[in-house]
Amino acid sequence: DWKMDSFVESAIQAMREKIGSGKVLCALSGGVDSSVAAVLLSKAVGRQLTCVFVDHGLLRKNEGDEVEAVFGPNGPYELNFIRVNAQERYYEKLKGVTEPEEKRKIIGEEFIRVFEEEAKKIGAVDFLVQGTIYPDVIESGLGKSAVIKSHHNVGGLPDYVDFKEIVEPLRLLFKDEVRAAGRELGIPEYLVSRQPFPGPGLGIRIIGEVTAEKVRIVQDADAIYREEIAKAGIEGLGQYFAALSNMRSVGVMGDERTYDYAVVLRAVMTSDFMTAEAAEIPWDVLHKVTNRIVNEVKGVNRVFYDCTGKPPATIEFE
Ligand code: XMP
Repeated sequence: DWKMDSFVESAIQAMREKIGSGKVLCALSGGVDSSVAAVLLSKAVGRQLTCVFVDHGLLRKNEGDEVEAVFGPNGPYELNFIRVNAQERYYEKLKGVTEPEEKRKIIGEEFIRVFEEEAKKIGAVDFLVQGTIYPDVIESGLGKSAVIKSHHNVGGLPDYVDFKEIVEPLRLLFKDEVRAAGRELGIPEYLVSRQPFPGPGLGIRIIGEVTAEKVRIVQDADAIYREEIAKAGIEGLGQYFAALSNMRSVGVMGDERTYDYAVVLRAVMTSDFMTAEAAEIPWDVLHKVTNRIVNEVKGVNRVFYDCTGKPPATIEFE
């Protein structure tokens, strides 16, 4: 793609000129935007860039290791990579908390605290990289009148870190252009074509209190669901994932009575994530996923499919 080719080249050049010999800090989430921004900066200024990746224990199965494999010392890029394993810290903070906005607030604040601690160790930096893309720019310019859910990754961070200037290399790109730039930069396809994943992660896909056990259940169920969707060759879904209802119900396994959790499968078609329709996943796929989840994931004896659109539901559960 010649257009992306020239974007990537000129963006690298522009960043190089702007940053000079400065020190650059990037909060890397492993999502498409921050990954593409990080690789762009790495190509521009190499080890002047430090990426901080916070594993809050609310990521998808194996996600932390996947991010580390790409951006860590054994990966292909030249940069400083810091992975903070903050799982226990988050679980401790979230203990006993059930109210959705309270959970979001804790997860967001803890992120800032962890990031701030790492930034302090690094010392003063010149530039902070943000993976802001064009739709974010428009959205924040409109000034949302009603905050339905607090999106913790919009705003917030800069106040807490000692830096001189923000750089936003993807500011003029739409999502599909960001993905194209990522491909041009040689970022692995599974990272580039990733579906959106919320900042608070599985914290808002586990209804009610978050515990390590519930995280394990939802990670395993979600991994099975994604694997089977991929195997079935289903494409074009806006987002699809497993969530954990806080409901337990009676079931039977062999001669034993069980009292276990219900997993909810969700898949939506959407173009803008403001409205969405439930996707019609073929029954045989749902059936297979259900069988696998109840057989392979300990602590689950029931699986539901969410047929609700947005509105009145939201895509996430909290
Ligand atoms: P809802 O649940 O509001 O989600 O229908 C709409 C889209 O936004 C994503 N989402 C978030 N993304 N931080 C994010 O970065 C958040 O706090 C957050 N909450 C929801 C959600 O995954 C969907 O794509």
